[in-house]
Amino acid sequence: MAVIKMKERIYSVGAVDWNRRVFDELIHLPEGTSYNSYLIYGSEKTALIDTVYPPKTFELIENLKKLKVNKIDYIISNHAEQDHSGAIPELLKIYPESRIVCNAKCKEMLIDLLLIPDDRFIVINDGETLSLGDKTLQFIFAPWVHWPETIFTYIPEDKVLFTCDFLGSHFATSELFAHDEKKVYLLAKRYYAEVMMPFRANIRKHLEKINSLAVEFIAPSHGPVYDRPKFILEAQADWASEDVKNIAIIPYTSMYGSTSKMVSHLADALKERGVEVRPFDMTGEDAGNLAIALVDAATVIFATPTVLSGAHPNVIYAAFLMNALRPKAKFAGIIGSYSWGGKAVEQIKGILSNVKLEFFDPVLVKGYPEEQAFSALDNLSEAIRNKHQSVCKGERD
Ligand code: FEO
Repeated sequence: MAVIKMKERIYSVGAVDWNRRVFDELIHLPEGTSYNSYLIYGSEKTALIDTVYPPKTFELIENLKKLKVNKIDYIISNHAEQDHSGAIPELLKIYPESRIVCNAKCKEMLIDLLLIPDDRFIVINDGETLSLGDKTLQFIFAPWVHWPETIFTYIPEDKVLFTCDFLGSHFATSELFAHDEKKVYLLAKRYYAEVMMPFRANIRKHLEKINSLAVEFIAPSHGPVYDRPKFILEAQADWASEDVKNIAIIPYTSMYGSTSKMVSHLADALKERGVEVRPFDMTGEDAGNLAIALVDAATVIFATPTVLSGAHPNVIYAAFLMNALRPKAKFAGIIGSYSWGGKAVEQIKGILSNVKLEFFDPVLVKGYPEEQAFSALDNLSEAIRNKHQSVCKGERD
C-alpha cells in the first residue's frame, strides 16, 4: 500500500490485501480487505495507531521507511486481534524506545497472544488523554464490537476518530476515502452482519458516544476512511436498531425438488401479499449473503428435506449461523418434505436458542407437495403478512 496523507501530519501507512478471499478461515472476502494503520506526527511525539496482519508487516515497515520515520513514541493498540496487532513485536524491535498504549484488558491479551514483555506497555483508562504536543490522543472505551478490550482513539484538534474494526468494511481499494458510497454501504453492511450484529446493543451505545463528539473523519482499520461520517453513522444506526423490515428470507436445500417446489410456492404467495422475499439455496451459497439478509428480515423460514431422520446439514448450518449472529428477526417457521418421518422441527428449534422467535406452525409434507400443502403455504404466507403488518414500520394499518 502506498503512503497516503489523510490530514496534516496524519498518514495512512497500512496494507491492502487484494487477494485475500477468506478471513478467520470462515468469512468470505469478495473484495479482499485492508489492515489500516495510521501515523500521527505531533510537534513533540509520534504515534502509530494500530498495525497490520503479520504477513503484511513488511509493507507497513516499508511505508514507515518511505516517511523516514526514525522514532515512534507510542503504538496505540485499539484492538488486540492479530490482524491489527500482529506487527507490534517486529515494530518493537525496530523502534526500541516505543511503548504500546492500550487498556488493561488489551495489555493482558497482547501479552497472551504476542508474548510482548510487560515493561513495553502504558495502560490507559477510559477518557484519558495523551499529548503528542500540538495533537492530543483521547481514548474512548468501546467494548464488545466484537471483543471486550476495544477502544477508539480521537484527535480533537483534527476531529478524526480511529475506530478499528467498528464501522469498517472488508474492501481492498486504492482510494483512501469512501466516495463510492453505494459499494462501501454493501461491504460495510456485510462486515456488520458477519462480525458486529450480535453486539448491536453495545453498538447503539457507541454510536451515541460518537455522535456527541465533533467528528469530521472516521478512520477504521478495514476499508476506506469516511470523510462524510454521517453516511456510515446513519447506516449503522439503521442496521443496529431493533426495527425489522417487511422481509422474509428462506434458507433452503432441496434434493429431489419437493422442498424447492414448496419454497417457490411460498415465495410467490408472499410476493402476492406484498412481503419482500429472498430464498437462499444453501447448496454453495456464500453465508455472507445470508448474514446480510438477516440484518433486516422480520421472518426466517427454514426449508429442508429430511436426511438421516433430521434437517439437511446445509439448513442446519443456516440455523447455526442465525443463532450465532443473533439477528433481530421476530418470526420463524419450518417447512419441508419427508418420506417416512423425521425430527427437523425439533432440531432447528433446538439450535435457535439464542434468538427470541415466535414460530409459525410448521408445514411438512410427505413426498411431493400437492394442493393441501400449497393451501397450508398460502395460510403461512397470510400469517407472515399479518405479523409483519403488526411490527414493521410503514406496514402497520
Ligand atoms: Fe479486524 Fe477484530 O479484527
